[in-house]
Amino acid sequence: MQHFSKENIDALARRYKNNLINSISGYKSANLIGTKNKAGNTNLAVFNSVVHLGSNPALLGFILRPTTVPRHSYQNMKETGVFTINHISKDQIEDAHHSSAKYAEDISEFDQTNLEAEYKANCLAPFVKGAPVQIACRYVNDYLIKENDTLLVVGAIEHLFVQEEMLLEDGYVQLDKGEVVTVNGIDGYALPQLLARFPYARPKE
Ligand SMILES: Cc1cc2nc3c(=O)[nH]c(=O)nc-3n(C[C@H](O)[C@H](O)[C@H](O)COP(=O)(O)O)c2cc1C
Repeated sequence: MQHFSKENIDALARRYKNNLINSISGYKSANLIGTKNKAGNTNLAVFNSVVHLGSNPALLGFILRPTTVPRHSYQNMKETGVFTINHISKDQIEDAHHSSAKYAEDISEFDQTNLEAEYKANCLAPFVKGAPVQIACRYVNDYLIKENDTLLVVGAIEHLFVQEEMLLEDGYVQLDKGEVVTVNGIDGYALPQLLARFPYARPKE
């Protein structure tokens, strides 16, 4: 096995280190966050850090890079209080990835890609049309991670839309039925397949 000590890692070339550390934590969620500012400009950006924070209340979180440069999604959700989280399906990966390009505030990623905005459930923020899972969230709070100046942004789930064939009888959302992708690193997209589900694990007798 190849071994990297902290000293080796610190000394790596920037691009190599970014690839290594971005991919080492494992497969990550792949989401498009949709927002709109008060002036009516829409914004869409890909995120690979959306995590489950708790079911009751239903909370999601994501990590925002340091706000040393304008972060439009974050600005908009703070301004309006709402954002959408949309899962990315296999046929959307190229456009989803392109949404990470640094466009000016008044240029919408919806106009620069084939991704289309969809409005419903009285949500001011745009959903991504055709996304297999669409979630409307209310911005709740954010917490500074002082070690690297990132923020953990907390959102409360207000509406969920799930493609019917993905939603099982017990409430489980089977993502592979909607060809929902995952992110490997910062630029690699993969299509996982469910292998098995297991009952609640208990200690052996
Ligand atoms: C695969 C992928 C995952 C990303 N995940 C995040 C993330 O979790 N947090 C973040 O702040 N930026 C992330 N980015 C970068 C944002 O997509 C990028 O900064 C984007 O321009 C932000 O748009 P905004 O300023 O319009 O909000 C990611 C980029 C890619 C390509």
